[in-house]
Amino acid sequence: MTSGVFVSFEGIDGSGKSTQARRLASALQAQGLTPVLTREPGGSPGAEEIRALVLQGDPDRWSAETELLLFTAARRDHLERTIRPALAAGQIVICDRFADSTRMYQGLSRGDLRGHVDQLHRLMIGTEPDVTILIDMDPEAGLRRAKARQTAEERFEDFGLELQQKMRAGFLALAQEFPGRFRVIDGNRSEDEVAQDVMQALSPFLPETVA
Ligand code: ADP
Ligand code: TYD
Repeated sequence: MTSGVFVSFEGIDGSGKSTQARRLASALQAQGLTPVLTREPGGSPGAEEIRALVLQGDPDRWSAETELLLFTAARRDHLERTIRPALAAGQIVICDRFADSTRMYQGLSRGDLRGHVDQLHRLMIGTEPDVTILIDMDPEAGLRRAKARQTAEERFEDFGLELQQKMRAGFLALAQEFPGRFRVIDGNRSEDEVAQDVMQALSPFLPETVA
């Protein structure tokens, strides 16, 4: 049905996803391609409005259940308005976080809601990336990097180191659950080294002129 390539980046806060997603988009642009660089929560005007609701304010502002509904609503809008049209036009979509983040943050962080996450995903989203780059990272170093950024979007960072540790282990388990689409890359290295591995992992999915 779709002819483009859907790439997602996943990992804990501060692991370097946004940096690597940006670098990948620039590298593909330099090769004459027109990738779509996007992010979650967000990536469409409506979903960006939901982003402010879920990422700002007190950590206990929403329950995990309410959050799951908000993130899924944002994802549905993003899918309808940004991702599907770009894939249908044959573009490479580079998405900074997607449904695996919901499997982790809402499915695992405060009790076991994974069953709800998967049910809602099947019902309302039903799309997985062709390939998911997991940037694996030491949780303490990741949190240090994320905190150094100083933005208003710190709701999840405020859950602290324990959440980061749980999410790291959870992402590695998810990579084992979906070995077909996950590629795990060591993020505790220089940006250039990580970028090189990202390009190598993606080469089978990219046009021959780039790979
Ligand atoms: P994420 O999107 O996973 O939260 P970012 O890409 O925003 O991570 O990176 C978090 C911070 O760490 C940024 O200030 C970024 O410049 C820095 N950073 C990213 N990759 C590396 C790296 N390989 N080594 C050192 N610092 C990095
Ligand atoms: P993001 O902007 O990628 O933060 P960072 O650059 O620090 O990794 O994502 C913001 C937060 O949103 C992040 O802590 C994880 C959380 N999140 C969820 O809880 N569920 C989701 O479905 C998504 C996409 C993100």
